[in-house]
Amino acid sequence: MSICPPVANDRLPSSVLVVGSGGREHALVRSLLASPAQPRVICAPGNAGIAQDVTCVAVAADNVVGLVELAQRERVEFVVVGPEVPLSLGLVDALTKVGIPAYGPKADGARLEASKVFTKQILLKYKIPTAPAGIFTEVTPALDFVRRRGAPIVIKADGLAAGKGVVVAQTLAEAEAAVHDMLAGNKFGSAGSQILVEDCMFGDETSLLVVVSGRDYVILPVSQDHKRVGDGDTGPNTGGMGTYSPAEVVTPELLARIDREIVRPSVDAIASEGIDFRGTLFIGIMLCSPDSQPSTLNSQPGTATAVPKVLEYNTRFGDPETQVVLPRLKTDLLTLLWRAAKGQLAGTQLEVRPEAALCVVVAAKGYPEKFPKGDVITFPAQLPPATTIFHAGTAKNAAGEIVTNGGRVLGVTALAPTLREAADRAYAACDAIQCASKYFRRDIGARQLNRR
Ligand code: GLY
Repeated sequence: MSICPPVANDRLPSSVLVVGSGGREHALVRSLLASPAQPRVICAPGNAGIAQDVTCVAVAADNVVGLVELAQRERVEFVVVGPEVPLSLGLVDALTKVGIPAYGPKADGARLEASKVFTKQILLKYKIPTAPAGIFTEVTPALDFVRRRGAPIVIKADGLAAGKGVVVAQTLAEAEAAVHDMLAGNKFGSAGSQILVEDCMFGDETSLLVVVSGRDYVILPVSQDHKRVGDGDTGPNTGGMGTYSPAEVVTPELLARIDREIVRPSVDAIASEGIDFRGTLFIGIMLCSPDSQPSTLNSQPGTATAVPKVLEYNTRFGDPETQVVLPRLKTDLLTLLWRAAKGQLAGTQLEVRPEAALCVVVAAKGYPEKFPKGDVITFPAQLPPATTIFHAGTAKNAAGEIVTNGGRVLGVTALAPTLREAADRAYAACDAIQCASKYFRRDIGARQLNRR
């Protein structure tokens, strides 16, 4: 059921191309298929799980020319772009040129994710709360700045670095090494030829996905991700090992403050810069402890003293945030995204299910470093109630078996009346999946569950 009120000429597209191949795209495909408008959905390039639901076409997500040709050949009426790379390569600009509506920002808007320096300049120019930072292209002034500020300190490569371009240095030595690696060692190529050095923020991190259309926007349910690979938030950073929603640390009062101090000013700033942004603005927010020290927020859910500040903008749906946010929407996703793309979002109200959602990422052991591919996955014949397995890094082998084909392999999402029940369901499914290289965190949701 959609509660989006009807608008004039609101004919929904009858065919949609989803671009991408991860768990996020599988969740997008499932939600679009559930639309009352019953669109034909295809995906490029997709994965083995998406191919069980819709036709997948082997055109890579960074092949802009190939994707435009595919959209024309298949006469799709709407394209939903998942990952950041095609957005920054101008896929939406190219589709717009040939008259195909698309959800996702054009290249000018995608810069908000593709350049951390650009984003920081906007945040500072419009006085949107964020950490103070220096911008450097040379090693010596960057090292001087690092030594003046002291550790812990954050070093960020300016450009896209597949989620690996941020170093939270606990010591001066680590910070100096990161500066050298990026500016002198060419560790991230041109993505690291300019860096940001910014103060470390302490607190709870939350993910806010905002569907934006010019100056209009709709805030989707708040979620929290677990970025580190190991239990207890240990080990290297990953793309995300699991999520849950709602995030109770963001009380309605805190969300109203975030809207007032961060979301509205961000959307207005982007529009004031002449960017007609139509897509997802994913705002990474740190709920900072007021004394800027490692916080005790974990024992103070929704504390009125937390100060929300912007960590980063992304210009797409989060992964695995999407796998918990979309299943909680009652509102028709196709209507929501179509309206954003067409500039008709004003007045749209969101309806959200009361259930909690929790997603456990099943990865290949060794991720985010070296991991095997090609291990056969066996799925349980029956899943717990309201439990879905979204595929990410999967493929089919010559024998037709589903095998691992990436670091993050599956996203197991469960909905339930409480977060505890959602966790029990998701973990029962994870335990029942068989795969030689299976690895997953055992503590997704623990921060919230242990606060009670
Ligand atoms: N889960 C974090 C991201 O999508 O960037």
